[in-house]
Amino acid sequence: MQHRSAWKNRWTFMLATAGSAIGLGNIWKLPYMIGMNGGSAFVLLFIACVFFVGIPLMMTEILLGRRAQKNPLNGIESLAIEANISPRWKYIGGMGMLTGLLILSFYSVIGGWVLSFITSAAMGSFTGITAAESTANFERLLASPITLLFWHSVFMVMTMSVVAHGVNSGLERANNILIPALFVILLILLGYSMSVGDMKTAFSFMFNPDFSKITPIVVLSALGHAFFSLSLGMGSVMVYGSYLQRNVSIARTTICIALLDTMLGLLVGLAIYSLVFANQLAPNAGPGLIFQTLPIAFGHMPSGNFIATLFFMLVAFAAWTSAISLAEPTIAWVVENTKISRKTASTLSGLAIWLVGVSVVLSFNEWQDIKIVFGLNIFETLDKLTSTILLPLGGLLMAVFAGYFMHKKHVHEELNLSNNAFRLWQFTNNYISPIAIIAVFLYLFGLVK
Ligand code: TRP
Repeated sequence: MQHRSAWKNRWTFMLATAGSAIGLGNIWKLPYMIGMNGGSAFVLLFIACVFFVGIPLMMTEILLGRRAQKNPLNGIESLAIEANISPRWKYIGGMGMLTGLLILSFYSVIGGWVLSFITSAAMGSFTGITAAESTANFERLLASPITLLFWHSVFMVMTMSVVAHGVNSGLERANNILIPALFVILLILLGYSMSVGDMKTAFSFMFNPDFSKITPIVVLSALGHAFFSLSLGMGSVMVYGSYLQRNVSIARTTICIALLDTMLGLLVGLAIYSLVFANQLAPNAGPGLIFQTLPIAFGHMPSGNFIATLFFMLVAFAAWTSAISLAEPTIAWVVENTKISRKTASTLSGLAIWLVGVSVVLSFNEWQDIKIVFGLNIFETLDKLTSTILLPLGGLLMAVFAGYFMHKKHVHEELNLSNNAFRLWQFTNNYISPIAIIAVFLYLFGLVK
């Protein structure tokens, strides 16, 4: 029997999973996705996806992990054997590992942007910066492959060295202080944006529902982002669940994490859009949005350099704890199946991911014009492929597996809910999520116009 480590208690599990969920998805990606997908239409759909697909699916992933007590691949394999169905279901786990590594390859590059912004902030380069200067500043960073490569490498080394030591090595305890600290600093930022920015326009841009802006692409993006933001569909949450003791309530933990994660993202969105509208910037600036707008606020507020340094450090920390969970399923699988040590496994996969990341770095400059499919460059292809196809597909398969193939008694035991709450989970897991995901896929593959 392998010795498996376990979380100390409910609280460390919750912090680790929140640490996985809260990351660049909330701070970097959500704000620009809102701007690129029609504002409030996207926000509304995103919230709906979190509640009707994300929360039930997060419960499903945790229950699968905890029942199996193994890495996602072997875990689903043994659950399939237990349920008397083909062990080939295990490939869900295999697909998840690959998805995690693909996401990490670009996640690390963006994590690198954040690291480089820590140094810029600390050196006071935002002082008094104008909107045009801020944009130019960011464009200068993107135009320099060497700088990007350097920070991408630093981020990758940071991530894999924690993974090499095992996930519950103490970093998660730091979450205890750092996630609340991130909230506090966001509130400061929000307060500042409210006083100097255009909060009214920002608020109506984000929350005044405009149903005419809902298009199939917006639905697709919102669903994909709900998966991305909650770390669902590839086994991050499942592998964390596999280290969880039996006596913890899955439902309560899930709801706390989902609410925290969603609120945080929306707060950042508000802070950013009130700056965007006050400075006549474009809401649809894309992936550079926060890096172009936030320095303007920091550059003009009292103690701005200090607050900016702290802010980007906290964001880097949040990104770090998420990145770790992207690699963990693969490393857990290697360690539990081969004689390769955790350290070697982390080094080798780290190198492979880093290498893919190099092509992502180049896609922001030298290889900008190389389009892979549908006019998307390397970064965009990896992002769309994972968020809108691989994660929802993984989620769909897990929901179907737990809802239609596992023994109901086992699912019941893990979730440990009252009958009504169980039925609610079952209804969302067995019908709402699969139907929503399949509908989006049918559209994506052109079957429904
Ligand atoms: N949820 C993280 C974020 O918002 C990123 C992340 C970590 C992730 N693990 C994941 C995304 C698994 C998809 C799947 O930044």
